[in-house]
Amino acid sequence: MRAALTALTDELQRLKTAGVKHVSVSAESLATLRRAVGAGRQEPVGRRQETGDRRQEESASVKVAPIAAALSTEKNPRLPPPVSRLPAPPELALPAGEKRTRWDALLALVQNDPVCREHVRPGKKVVLGVGHLDAQIMFVGEAPGAEEEIQGEPFVGPAGQLLTKMIQATGLKREQVYIGNIMNWRPELPVSGGGEQYGNRPPTEEEMRYCLPYLRAQIDVVNPALLVALGSTAAQGLLGFGAFKALGDVRGRWHEFAGKPLMVTYHPSYILRNPTNRSKRMIWEDLLKVMERAALPISEKQRGYFLEK
Ligand code: URA
Repeated sequence: MRAALTALTDELQRLKTAGVKHVSVSAESLATLRRAVGAGRQEPVGRRQETGDRRQEESASVKVAPIAAALSTEKNPRLPPPVSRLPAPPELALPAGEKRTRWDALLALVQNDPVCREHVRPGKKVVLGVGHLDAQIMFVGEAPGAEEEIQGEPFVGPAGQLLTKMIQATGLKREQVYIGNIMNWRPELPVSGGGEQYGNRPPTEEEMRYCLPYLRAQIDVVNPALLVALGSTAAQGLLGFGAFKALGDVRGRWHEFAGKPLMVTYHPSYILRNPTNRSKRMIWEDLLKVMERAALPISEKQRGYFLEK
């Protein structure tokens, strides 16, 4: 989306230089631009470029100010009002009892949440976390992507397959950990004729705030010993918006969320884009810290993973 906005501003600049004074824009396109600009305004930290399923982890500036100014309703009172905002985050009350009973109740709540349902396209699913309800380690990602919203399960696409391998490298099975996301629906992008969404965008701060009670409730039910945030969006959601400039500032260190130790590391899609031993080793070193804190056995072989060039 950032690339599309930059291309648009460049083209407008080119037309202006060429002497063009007016361009006509449909109401639909205006609404789409507003949504994109709004998303840009709400996520000040680490805006990343869309490349396939997730984006770069480091921060970059967004060149949307001219569009934002041009589309401001204050300056253009005749423009349609901005897209509606989300209501306050839900206050969730789970029944007392067994973990399974409480988790099932939570699943019913999220699946019936009118805001979540409204943001899921026909035939696609609201996504809650998955895994062992007595897991010691809970991984927290960003948001469902194309595969996840079809299957209704987090991390089942390419990034998920890599996450599964990362988990296996620690000596655990995917079924032994819990895997959740900050978001319960796939953040929408405008769709073309066929109605399918291509690409993903990071959730806005408001979207993450809305979904956060569902993640807190999962932490409450599972009660893991440790949390691992995958990528800068998840880290922002858990550490607070504006808490850091670049993921490198906070990764590989212990933080805290909901009273639990929280390790921040890269999103597996970062490795998909940079499949070098160096980037694999960076994530692996973070996971070694998680294994140490979780008192998992670590062999010499495991300690040396991805050290060779
Ligand atoms: N990336 C995420 O952050 N979450 C998913 O569920 C899938 C990909």
